[in-house]
Amino acid sequence: MEPAPEAKPAGPCAMVIFGAGGDLTKRLVVPALYNLATSKLLPKDFVLIGVDVADLTTDQWRENLSKMMQSFLAGGGEFTPESIDPSAWDGLIGNMSYLRGDFADDGTFKKLGDVLQKTEDDRHTGGNVLFYLAVADRFFGPVVDKIAAAGLADEQDGKRWRRVIVEKPFGHSLESAKALNQRLLKVLREDQIYRIDHFLGKETVQSIMAIRFANGFFEPIWNRDHVDQVQITVAETVGVERRGKFYEQTGALRDMVPNHLFQLLTMIAMEPPTSFDPDAVRDRKADVMKAIPPASLDCAVRGQYGRGEVEGHPVVDYRHEPDVSPTSSAETYVALKLEIDSWRWAGVPFYLRTGKSMSKRWTEIAIQFRRAPLSIFQGTDVSHMAPNWLVLQIQPDEGISFQFQVKRPGQTVALAPVKSSFAYKDWFPPSANVGYETLIYDCMIGDATLFQRADMVEAGWRIVQPVLDGWAAEKPADFPNYAAGSSGPKAADDLLANDGERSWRPIGNPI
Ligand code: BG6
Repeated sequence: MEPAPEAKPAGPCAMVIFGAGGDLTKRLVVPALYNLATSKLLPKDFVLIGVDVADLTTDQWRENLSKMMQSFLAGGGEFTPESIDPSAWDGLIGNMSYLRGDFADDGTFKKLGDVLQKTEDDRHTGGNVLFYLAVADRFFGPVVDKIAAAGLADEQDGKRWRRVIVEKPFGHSLESAKALNQRLLKVLREDQIYRIDHFLGKETVQSIMAIRFANGFFEPIWNRDHVDQVQITVAETVGVERRGKFYEQTGALRDMVPNHLFQLLTMIAMEPPTSFDPDAVRDRKADVMKAIPPASLDCAVRGQYGRGEVEGHPVVDYRHEPDVSPTSSAETYVALKLEIDSWRWAGVPFYLRTGKSMSKRWTEIAIQFRRAPLSIFQGTDVSHMAPNWLVLQIQPDEGISFQFQVKRPGQTVALAPVKSSFAYKDWFPPSANVGYETLIYDCMIGDATLFQRADMVEAGWRIVQPVLDGWAAEKPADFPNYAAGSSGPKAADDLLANDGERSWRPIGNPI
């Protein structure tokens, strides 16, 4: 197979990480930068400045990061490189420096300005800066205000670029997301803001568009005339881990749906864009979000895990996790039925579900096509037609499978459902990738295609807001309502069963 054309290194720039001592920096951002370095995609002139409140020296910071990389290697994992290339790692940490500072203090931003100026003079970064807000969301607005007040967002009439990556959660509700957008847009242009959703950094999520639009045979059947239903599942085996405090405030709906699950949904449902220009693609995705009516409470199911066993290991109930209230109403599972009021999709239900502590780590998008008429088989033993499913599997093994029916060999007429499958791993070598590489690189080269625009974020919140409000107003009576290690609450099964006798696909059905 021909190798993919190689991407070029990004142009000169400095990257500033606020929250340099945090988990995100250590576990994802720095490993992603390392992977970019080994792929020769980091700028030749590159400097990384970590800002945080902890009292660390640059050497101590580097040492902490090196220890983290070593522990990754020791832990293995599907995307972990087998060994560290010392020249790439030394090159990367050699270009790092640490600035101790409180995010609330103007002095921090003044000092940062001095460091950036020196970097520009000595390290030829061209004055270009990518600010990465790897901090708790309450700091997003204040840090951006201070960046701007210190003159650090100024692009000097296009002589240099200044961009800001904002992590999730982007707001907690429609109102707070709007307020945050307004605050950022007071001091930055929309094209300087890169709202990250790490699901868009996953290779298989990006490939959905290619699969749809590079294969002519999908388009004629990709609509309400042929599609019966779409199911999107993001099942996790992890519980809330050490994030009890965050989860108590957030819950599964806020944490996963308006961002990650909606990204998957828009990739499936969007119209073909006229080009791969960032706004051409984002316009079509925004169209989908705008065509989804607000979710209704009777099409939403919430769940919370009780005690159980996940992959052979005992798991405590959510209410006994650290930092969780023993009477918590936070949901760890959500299922929703949505409709898209568009010419293409009117009447096709989109069922979404996601949960923690479930039976298997499994992310898939499954499209069920309308059944063929049974009439032709009258007079035979065939009394049932299994539907055709097209399944795009995202995690853990990426691939596609198609389920169809064949005749069972023999003298009678009998059908059997079979599958034809493609697995990425059978065709392409695995690559060390934590999911942030493409996103950071794209921000460096100014390509916002894989980032959320203000209108998309707000549209996502608008859809889920009635459910958030309804759930906040009424405590769940039946929590915990699913056992850890199961496939979710019974009410989620009823949601589909009451809707034309449908049922969820089994979680972990291999392609
Ligand atoms: C994060 C959520 O955004 O995505 C987590 O906050 C969730 O709760 C995670 O576990 C899932 O991402 P991935 O890449 O592990 O599937």
